[in-house]
Amino acid sequence: MASIERLYDFFEPEHYDLFLDVSREDKRIKGKTIVKGRAKQTAMALHQHDLAVESVKVNGQSVDFNVDKANDQIRFDVKEAGEQTIEVSYQAPLTDNMNGIYPSYYSVDGKAKQVVSTQFETYFARQAFPSIDEPEAKATFSLALKFDEKPGEVAIANMPETRVEDGVHYFEKTVKMSTYLVAFAFGDFQSIETTTKSGIKVGVYATKAHPAKDMDFALDIAKRSIDFYEGFYQTPYPLAQSLQVALPDFSAGAMENWGMVTYREAYLLVDPDNTELSMKQTVATVIAHELAHQWFGDLVTMKWWDELWLNESFANMMEFVAIDAIEPDWHIWETFNANDAQAALRRDALPGVQPVHVAVHHPEEIDALFDPAIVYAKGAHLLVMLRSLIGDDALRQGLKAYFDKKAYGNATGDDLWAALGAASGQDIGAIMKTWLDQPGYPVLSVTIEDGRVKVSQTPFVLGDKQADDKRLWQVPLAASAPGLPKLLTKESADLGDWEAIKAASKGPFRLNVGNAGHYIVSYDDEILAEQVKALTTLSAIDQAQFVQNALLLAQNNQVSYADLLPIMPLLADSKSALVQNFLYQAIAAIKVFAEPDSKTEAYLQVFTRGLSTKRFEALGLAKKADDSVSDELARPVVVGAALFGKNPELLAEAHQVFAKAGSAQKLPADGRTEILKNELVNFNNQESFAGLLADYQETANASLKRDLSSALAATPNSLQIQTLIASFQDPEVIKPQDLRNWFAGVLANPVGQDAAWAWFQENWDWLVDRLGGDMSFSSYITVIARIFKTREKLDEFNAFFEDKKNQPGIAREIVVDAQMIENRVKLVEEQEAAVAKALNGLVK
Ligand code: BES
Ligand code: ZN
Repeated sequence: MASIERLYDFFEPEHYDLFLDVSREDKRIKGKTIVKGRAKQTAMALHQHDLAVESVKVNGQSVDFNVDKANDQIRFDVKEAGEQTIEVSYQAPLTDNMNGIYPSYYSVDGKAKQVVSTQFETYFARQAFPSIDEPEAKATFSLALKFDEKPGEVAIANMPETRVEDGVHYFEKTVKMSTYLVAFAFGDFQSIETTTKSGIKVGVYATKAHPAKDMDFALDIAKRSIDFYEGFYQTPYPLAQSLQVALPDFSAGAMENWGMVTYREAYLLVDPDNTELSMKQTVATVIAHELAHQWFGDLVTMKWWDELWLNESFANMMEFVAIDAIEPDWHIWETFNANDAQAALRRDALPGVQPVHVAVHHPEEIDALFDPAIVYAKGAHLLVMLRSLIGDDALRQGLKAYFDKKAYGNATGDDLWAALGAASGQDIGAIMKTWLDQPGYPVLSVTIEDGRVKVSQTPFVLGDKQADDKRLWQVPLAASAPGLPKLLTKESADLGDWEAIKAASKGPFRLNVGNAGHYIVSYDDEILAEQVKALTTLSAIDQAQFVQNALLLAQNNQVSYADLLPIMPLLADSKSALVQNFLYQAIAAIKVFAEPDSKTEAYLQVFTRGLSTKRFEALGLAKKADDSVSDELARPVVVGAALFGKNPELLAEAHQVFAKAGSAQKLPADGRTEILKNELVNFNNQESFAGLLADYQETANASLKRDLSSALAATPNSLQIQTLIASFQDPEVIKPQDLRNWFAGVLANPVGQDAAWAWFQENWDWLVDRLGGDMSFSSYITVIARIFKTREKLDEFNAFFEDKKNQPGIAREIVVDAQMIENRVKLVEEQEAAVAKALNGLVK
């Protein structure tokens, strides 16, 4: 496998004229690209992938060329270095892999239809037109687009359309930008629009398979997000339009193409009358994420993919900053703490995990960069930590300087640290590099020795530790007592007299107050006892953090889950959704010790029922008029726990609600997942299974689809499992974009696990062929690693992946995931008996 050659070193493009003629009917693209730019040498190369190149002209003269398939290049010579006009004519297939230019399939009133759109990140622009397909090779683009147009169809792109002539749609020349952000779409779309305070046209586009009102929520959030960013970044949105486009087939979640953002339907469209709050929050944060990129990513772009975090970590933080500003009642940072911060801490403790800032040696490794728990969640957590160190004023001032300096250009992390360092007067680079360039994070041990509080850091590693591991971090302490050092820069420090610190501390003594720090703390027994004593008086975030610490330490066998169990009832009646979330994350972690249908499982169910009953009775199954935000967010968590606990009232009520609704479409979105699961698990019959599977296939509502798939995958009937698996490769039933969730669902179901695993192994080649180019393809492997917990399955995992360990896109994933399973196997061996005993004692 070749290492990466940078074609920008040979040729600097200035401007592209793109002519594209797309035929859905023939599944073909005809193209002509004229690119002007400066050659730095006479040997030239442009990126291409799967293009049937017909001719190459340099300054009007046809030249010989050579297509190098292995390296994705067209090679030819120019007479001398300097300005060139290169013209390439070609054809290309219109493929169904959701990359490059591709069709999306859907139907309206039973009639099959197609829209066509683009997905060019990371390196798929080269499938659509020959180019220097690297983020640094910024240029302007003028698009002329023709297609097999039917009456009523529209075409959109990064920039507004200027005219249509002889069936060709012409678009305004773009600003200077990277190839991976070029986008267009056409088809029978409906749309709505509004304008921002500064006069930018904001639009939402969707196919006509959806009610028009499902676009309203997104339009409002998009408009207000842009208003917010223009203020926060103090840098105007530079284009005339910002279109949000929902697509029936989409491999990622959403994509920040400049001026024309694309989304999975699930992440843009919201039924305003029947959508649970958590889903609205997800949609809002996804929109805010992509719009954050319009500056961070689009206006200023990472120089090379190794600095991907500059794009993604930043956008992942800003989505919360923006939504917190425009929907303050949502307390969206709680969601960040419950999801992102957690996911990052769990994944980042595994040996072999990648750092946020990671070198890229092979083209396919670019895909593996997108480890969501690291580049997204950990990166965002680190920036949250930075924000809490320097404050919003310095952050905004630094960002403004960064944008002013780098607009329409490229940047590295060092450029950002320089700008933020200047604005804050702190050596930001020195602090942040310890976090971004090293994998993992520390556990801080706080001990009392001779009446003094000592703190020391060691790398927190689940599983095999290296004896010579000398990693150190600059750790913001964020202590609950005043006057202590702000940063721990060495291995250890003396924080002072324990009695004095205890007296001065706000509440029991803690570090990492606010949970902005990407680390965990192991406290001396005496300090821990103080915390437990005061647990019910602590803020929700402090309580959540208490559970978070305990869960991670327990995973590393430093504390026992058995000791955590008796503390859980102290938090069970909390009205905070965040606390409920952590509480049942803990139960989920403890489920690994409970074999299906075992005594331990029965105890855990009784215990969980006990924990959840009071909140379940208060919250009920259905949304209430006087719900607080926390009530709405806690309900699915609490009801889910009550369902696992087989709460008889819930089971009966949910069954009744289902019967009364008559169909899945008529169920209220709140509680829908649990109601459907209850039907499949506790009241299963073939008729309702078949009916729900048909509903799944028919509905265009992505949120309902998701609920149906997670319920159907939980069926205890093995014949039904066979029916599901038989549909995995049938895009008429399950769209390839949704397959991973289905696979994960069936694999997590004890009745389906073996069948799903066998299917996976038998159809690996098909999967690679169909979805191997997706940035998140490796997460098919993660899904398995999250579930397997026996030595036998670990061996099967290792045997299957043995000969795939050298494939650059998935190599790291395989190693880290094998560790994940190995740790779980050991954990079960080490703690199973103690947990069973503790549970038995608690439920007697
Ligand atoms: N730029 C990414 C999407 C992307 C990355 C597509 C790499 C292809 C290759 C986009 O901004 C993004 O981060 N999307 C997320 C959703 C987001 C809200 C967290 C995704 O697709 O998972
Ligand atoms: Zn992103």
